[in-house]
Amino acid sequence: MKIIKTNQSKLPSIDFSNIPFGKYTSDHMFVMDYANGQWGDFRIIPYQGFTLDPQSKALQYCQCIFEGMKATMGADGQPKLLRPELNIERFNLSAERMCMPRVPYDIFINALKAIITMDAGWVPKAEGSALYVRPTMFATESSLAVTPSDTYTFYIYTGPVQPYFTTPIRLVTEQKLIRAVPGGTGEAKTGGNYAGSLMASQLAKKKGFDQIIWLESPEFKKVQEAGMMNLFFVVKNKVLTPKLSGAVLKGTTRTYFIDILIEQGVEVEVRDIFIDEIIEAFQKGELQEAFGSGTAAVVSQLAEIVHGDIIMKLPDERVISSMLYDEINGLRSGRIDDKRNWLMAVN
Ligand SMILES: Cc1ncc(COP(=O)(O)O)c(C=O)c1O
Repeated sequence: MKIIKTNQSKLPSIDFSNIPFGKYTSDHMFVMDYANGQWGDFRIIPYQGFTLDPQSKALQYCQCIFEGMKATMGADGQPKLLRPELNIERFNLSAERMCMPRVPYDIFINALKAIITMDAGWVPKAEGSALYVRPTMFATESSLAVTPSDTYTFYIYTGPVQPYFTTPIRLVTEQKLIRAVPGGTGEAKTGGNYAGSLMASQLAKKKGFDQIIWLESPEFKKVQEAGMMNLFFVVKNKVLTPKLSGAVLKGTTRTYFIDILIEQGVEVEVRDIFIDEIIEAFQKGELQEAFGSGTAAVVSQLAEIVHGDIIMKLPDERVISSMLYDEINGLRSGRIDDKRNWLMAVN
């Protein structure tokens, strides 16, 4: 691999006590190109822009995908990844869905290790903070033909982020706009899904809500996810989360949570969940908690869910979501023993 180091690190200018999500990028990036059916030209270079043909298929037809994961500083002072194989697997599912080439596991994991090791000084040390890692692939062929590109660029850049504390949020169900339908691209982490979701989020924010709950069209009854998080409900001490319908992103945090809950003997139901049953549980006083899961916040507890003119205010005691939040952050910082062997050292 070719390595070109920056001669002007941005690190001294960063105040690690104030690193809002997505504001700063680290010094270097890993880049490789795909041509003639294979990946090559592996390099680590200073963080910089790309030159893109105006007719590139990434720009014209949105043939692009990404991942989001975190590297954290372990108790031994070494950066660690949490179950990176889940992100690599999801990235390759996204690639397949968007007719893009897979990135072989060994190339992907070695690239992750190399770029995190290179910018290890950027990994924040405080528990809950992390080096956010963003692998991305985009189509570079210049052509107006609506066919898969022949050439691609894959890159990984990183940036430090502080704990993403959210006070309990208010969500409203969306009953007109949709994010994804089974058979669509909702299971792929591709930019178009996010562009398509902006309008509903903006409308909800204008009405004073933090985010929306996506329901499956055309009935708008089946619960999908919340904004950019998977959803969990606790009803009568049972944890419910929507099954992957083909329109729901397979969240890595969702997988950690399901595994931890099952291991702790908590009853978990992964199945179709309908808003009417959540309303019924609320009305009977059986809805104990609801929360979103995602890499950025780990857990976002819900204070309120609004569906039409029904307002569901959730109890202030949030036992399960608090336990899950603590378990993941404690595991990442080394405060909680990694008995499941989920952490992977990067060097
Ligand atoms: C649409 C959507 N759903 C769910 C998630 C949660 O996934 P993860 O836990 O892997 O961050 C994300 C974030 O990546 C997302 O963008």
